[in-house]
Amino acid sequence: MISINSPEINEIGHLVIGGVDTVDLAKKYGTPLYVMDEDTFVENMRKFKNSMDKFYKNGRVLYASKTFCCNEVIKIADKEGLGIDVVSGGELYTAIKAGIDPSKIVFHGNNKSMKELEMAVENKVGIIVIDSIYELNLLNKIAKEKNVTVDIMFRIKPGIDVHTHNYIKTGQIDSKFGLTLQNNEAEEAVKEAIEKENINLVGLHCHIGSQIFDVEPFEDAAKIMLNFIAEIKNKYNYEILELNLGGGFGIMYTNQDDPIAYEKYMERVSKIVIESCKNLNIKVPFIYIEPGRSISGPAGITLYTVGTIKEIEGIRKYVSIDGGMTDNPRYALYQAKYTAIVANKMNEPIDDVITLAGKCCESGDLIGENMKIQKPEPLDIIAIYSTGAYNYSMSSNYNRILRPPVVMVKDGESRIIVKGETFEDIIRNDM
Ligand code: LLP
Repeated sequence: MISINSPEINEIGHLVIGGVDTVDLAKKYGTPLYVMDEDTFVENMRKFKNSMDKFYKNGRVLYASKTFCCNEVIKIADKEGLGIDVVSGGELYTAIKAGIDPSKIVFHGNNKSMKELEMAVENKVGIIVIDSIYELNLLNKIAKEKNVTVDIMFRIKPGIDVHTHNYIKTGQIDSKFGLTLQNNEAEEAVKEAIEKENINLVGLHCHIGSQIFDVEPFEDAAKIMLNFIAEIKNKYNYEILELNLGGGFGIMYTNQDDPIAYEKYMERVSKIVIESCKNLNIKVPFIYIEPGRSISGPAGITLYTVGTIKEIEGIRKYVSIDGGMTDNPRYALYQAKYTAIVANKMNEPIDDVITLAGKCCESGDLIGENMKIQKPEPLDIIAIYSTGAYNYSMSSNYNRILRPPVVMVKDGESRIIVKGETFEDIIRNDM
């Protein structure tokens, strides 16, 4: 398991991940390099799966593939007994090509295209999560044409405002995602779905945001959703049998972050769910959760090589690396905090303070500011922790910079799971 607080260090003072010297990895594959530790990735899945089995018995963990989606990780999630949450035609295509049983796929998105919906119906995706009445009508039309009935959930905004970055909040009323419980919007959608011949409304879904550390908002969301299920039962004599409570569990990026044990989350929320169902006189629904960041995030690190260093007297020290916002746009987008270390100087004191800058033509291309680290010098290897989620998947080719490869490490061995791009790839689609 990768641990920020107690990293594994070998006899020559290098950072070790999955039994492999990270400096050797940098030499072998070049930098920048995404490295995923298979044991951490699998262990995180098992934590969720085991606590789901223990506390709910009747439920399924879905891996939110938007955090990191490629053939190999979908296959691992499948082998571990997880389903897959996809949010676009591309993620759906990857999951299907990886050989996952389509009935274990849940398809999200606030504006799925006609083509994507058709693709989902043709591939018999387990559940399509409907985000608007417009989409409900579109899907019903497609299902009718194909003479099938499609299982759906509605994405509901439970009206919860969580403490996280504005861009990654999703459960509040002012959100582009889902249907609100206010103004009867969600109720109207439910009523329409019940009446539609080619739609089978199986459940409700909510996702209140991402990188959340408190359990209370999850408990509150569950209560609000169950109240709505009871209301539907009482008003329409219609039973909602499945409830998807989304993802959003926080992880450690720096030692300022204190994530909850995911087992604790599951224990507390399952208790609320079971109690509420009893009080509301409704059946305990089949529960889904959709962790993404908490599975892939801590399993990844990124390796860079140090190049130019500029000390601006009395202001700051810029240490430039051979990657940046193209492989990790999260500082530029959310001022996300990361922990950096010099992977070849693990036994040296952490007594320098730097701004870690990327190589893009963009002043905001930083990985972090005021980062405490061992004194870096040109050609040192810098490792950034917790880059397994929303890094590769949000990477770009800005400045026609190549996407780095992704290497999986386990038991002292490494293997490429996503190839790095070449200059040929860069001009592939040019006419
Ligand atoms: N389910 C749904 C419906 C979601 O929208 C998301 C994330 C998840 C599950 C997974 O959430 P997680 O467990 O990973 O927090 N790019 C941003 C995060 C965007 C989150 C989008 N939705 C970042 O880099 O922080």
